[in-house]
Amino acid sequence: MSTQEILRKYLPQRDQMLLMLHEIQQHNPGNNITPADIRQVAEYLNTTSASVYGVVRYYSMFSMAPRGKFVIRFCKSPLCRMVGAFNVLKSLEKELSIHMGETTSDMLFTLEPSECLGHCDKAPVMMVNDQVYFHLDEARLQEIISQIREQELKKQQS
Ligand code: FES
Repeated sequence: MSTQEILRKYLPQRDQMLLMLHEIQQHNPGNNITPADIRQVAEYLNTTSASVYGVVRYYSMFSMAPRGKFVIRFCKSPLCRMVGAFNVLKSLEKELSIHMGETTSDMLFTLEPSECLGHCDKAPVMMVNDQVYFHLDEARLQEIISQIREQELKKQQS
């Protein structure tokens, strides 16, 4: 679906901007917002590219840099750190063969730091796109990553 097709699904009102940007980002192969998207959103909302760019830069859920299909937001806030998030993160980096802020060479995963994800009672916590995962340890991480890889492989083969 093109950016124009996505825009036409929404009323040309500024309070729709976050929803538009979110959907555009999801549909882009690089899981990001491009300068062309920003121009088109600005024209559709009859505003400036600078104001749309400001929104994209403000919210950490948006990225202008290409990212993997699955963006992992790993909580690095104190409560998660207190229950072993650092060691879990090391396992995750090893499992993916990347470091925080990087994307796997197959463009499947991007690993990003996150502030508190609001589930401190179930720490350590991470999000993969819109899905939240709790009580993480090395075994659970391997299970999650393997499941995603297997699902993607099946999609490619079908
Ligand atoms: S500190 Fe990690 S979810 Fe709150």
